[in-house]
Amino acid sequence: MNMKSETNTIQMPLLGFGTLIPDPAATITATRNALKAGFRHFDCAERYRNESEVGEALRAGLISENISRDEIFVTTKLWNSNHRPERVKPAFEASLGRLGLDYLDLYLIHTPFAFQAGEEQDPRDQNGNVIYDRQLTLLDTWRAMEQLVDQGKCRAIGLSDISLEQLLPLYEAARIKPAVVQVESHPYLPETRLLEFCKAHDIVFLAFAPLGHGIKPGPLGDPVILKIAAEIGKTAAQVLLAWAIQRGTALLTTPKTPERARENFDISALPKEAFEEINRIQTRQRFNEVVKTGVPGFIAKGN
Ligand SMILES: NC(=O)c1ccc[n+]([C@@H]2O[C@H](COP(=O)([O-])OP(=O)(O)OC[C@H]3O[C@@H](n4cnc5c(N)ncnc54)[C@H](OP(=O)(O)O)[C@@H]3O)[C@@H](O)[C@H]2O)c1
Repeated sequence: MNMKSETNTIQMPLLGFGTLIPDPAATITATRNALKAGFRHFDCAERYRNESEVGEALRAGLISENISRDEIFVTTKLWNSNHRPERVKPAFEASLGRLGLDYLDLYLIHTPFAFQAGEEQDPRDQNGNVIYDRQLTLLDTWRAMEQLVDQGKCRAIGLSDISLEQLLPLYEAARIKPAVVQVESHPYLPETRLLEFCKAHDIVFLAFAPLGHGIKPGPLGDPVILKIAAEIGKTAAQVLLAWAIQRGTALLTTPKTPERARENFDISALPKEAFEEINRIQTRQRFNEVVKTGVPGFIAKGN
């Protein structure tokens, strides 16, 4: 299976390790395990509040595994409270400092929602409602992202948690086109129209929650996935990750133990019939509601 994806601007390892891990010590261990298992693509975010730990793990891991910086691909994301154009470069540099890097491979706008500018990541009014910044458009923020590429600070820029309808006008207006779009995707949320658009425009479609965030019931316990896993001698997680790659997306996964890091890295192409059987799954479910308001969170069971 080809493990690289090419666009007009970047080459990215298709299998990415996601660093959304609340515990700092677990972040360091899991990041080092991922590097050891073979992951070379690391997805971070200012919002995860653990860029320093990821940076520490990468620095130590690169030395112990004898890997150079240019062999890994590192992404981080601009949070909603930093969308004002004058805040973009300082936020980027703060992330770079925490990660201990001198350039980034990819910088993403984490969500299309601008929150009130400031240090508070989750600004709320007295009724508990999010305070949005209505003065700004996504394009205003994108223009500041483009300048980071011009200045040689990051190799590529992209978007996350965006719909095709939101992407289209930005794509049209952008001077530097988005290289990557990161969205929730798995057999219950294939996002086929967005994927087709990305393929037609050389944008990498980067799937998060390829295992449906591990939530059950969900894709990991789906009877079709379990049946195929038993037939081919792979685990349900390996089947889901292979399906994602086989349909032309890159993916992010967050194994927290060395065993799972090896398992999630050890994937191979599915037989054609199995691949098509997964494409025919009819269940539709979104597991993360961040796309609705910009506030991260899992969707409670039953919604
Ligand atoms: N752009 C955004 O808004 C956004 C939102 C969410 C996530 N992300 C990114 O996407 C990354 C991936 O997140 P994700 O939650 O979708 O990761 P994931 O690896 O697809 O799912 C994580 C869940 O699956 C379980 N799991 C992992 N490997 C497994 C295996 N081999 N067998 C069974 N269960 C397994 C984990 O269990 P344990 O906890 O027991 O290990 C955890 O509950 C994040 O780290 C982050 O970088 C981005």
